[in-house]
Amino acid sequence: MERAELNIDFSNVTVSEDDLFKYQGALKEAQDFLSKSKEGTGWVRLPFEYDRSELKRIESTAARIQEQCQAFVVIGIGGSYLGARAAIEMLGPLQQDLPEIYFAGINISGSYHAELIDRIKDKDICICVISKSGNTTEPAIAFSLFKELLFKKYGKEASERIYVITDKNKGILRDETDNEGYVNFVIPDDIGGRYSVLTPVGLLPMAVAGIDIESVLDGALEEANLLDRSEKYAAIRNELFNRGKLIEIFEYYEPRLHYFAEWLKQLFGESEGKEGKGIFPAALEFSTDLHSMGQYLQQGNQIFFETILNVEEAKQDLTVPQSAGNFLAGKSMNQINKAAVEGVIEAHKGARIPMIKIDIPVLNAYNFGRLVYFFEKACALSGCLMGVNPFDQPGVESYKSEMRKALE
Ligand code: PA5
Repeated sequence: MERAELNIDFSNVTVSEDDLFKYQGALKEAQDFLSKSKEGTGWVRLPFEYDRSELKRIESTAARIQEQCQAFVVIGIGGSYLGARAAIEMLGPLQQDLPEIYFAGINISGSYHAELIDRIKDKDICICVISKSGNTTEPAIAFSLFKELLFKKYGKEASERIYVITDKNKGILRDETDNEGYVNFVIPDDIGGRYSVLTPVGLLPMAVAGIDIESVLDGALEEANLLDRSEKYAAIRNELFNRGKLIEIFEYYEPRLHYFAEWLKQLFGESEGKEGKGIFPAALEFSTDLHSMGQYLQQGNQIFFETILNVEEAKQDLTVPQSAGNFLAGKSMNQINKAAVEGVIEAHKGARIPMIKIDIPVLNAYNFGRLVYFFEKACALSGCLMGVNPFDQPGVESYKSEMRKALE
């Protein structure tokens, strides 16, 4: 089947090919680093090497979870959470009869978790705890809460409703998993949290939500076979940063992209924000935020550039009734949304704001895979061009250890 292309439009970035020439040497070095280094780069090769038998095991485990429960609670935070949520909010629910999916361990709010337990306690429940280290505070608390709930509800059989995704050998979650015999999947050693969407971390929750995970991987593979565009995006980001554009705003007009933008914030923030460097990633939802932040964008301090996530064919549409009056009556809402995209681009061109536009033909599993791989590669290359290690997160580790000390 012919697929519409995911297109990246660099025509409004205010950066010329000549301006980018100086990044060629560093880009070549960055590409070599991604292809040769073993540290944190497992995701680069993943779409080429994915173990098909594992994929089948993820699919059959998802089918078992769909049979077992009405409420599926995914427990994890940061890189062990945002990718799955981004996919599920972007694409789901795909069928009526699938379990409802809830997220826990994403904060330390007693109210959030009490309300969640209250909402689902009378349903059939399965949980999936995802943690590479196995000892992150938020998921550890949520795991204990939901385990207690399951054991009260199902007695010894509760363990058959507990699924774990963690490190192969290390951590207390691994020890407990082996002792209790929970069904489990491994997070590869050479893939860090924010780059783990295409491992069981993202794929198992997606499959439970009915998302075609083989299509996600096909999309990633297609993107991985393309040269140039993530390189170009990485070089443009660095050029803009060097010109004082310190903030990248991811803008979207479909609310289903909210958590994808959250994932992007984590990916870029955690990969680049170190050694006093890094572009600050922000996100705005349009047209909502045009009525608030739109003013700042048009006339405020021009320390930012924009990356527009433009969905070309929305999932559903409505025709505006006659009572809406002259300009609006009879038009489709999507048509009006497109006019907003065009209007904002024209207005921002007038303000000389650099803009990159990513045209997503339609929100589906395949394009989700493409977008994930495109941004992961662009982010890693961009971090290398900036001279930072895009795969560590010493700042996040210090928060974790300081909080542990404070608790002790
Ligand atoms: O990307 C990262 O490394 C972090 O966001 C981690 O994923 C997050 O802190 C959760 O860590 P863990 O999977 O060890 O529980």
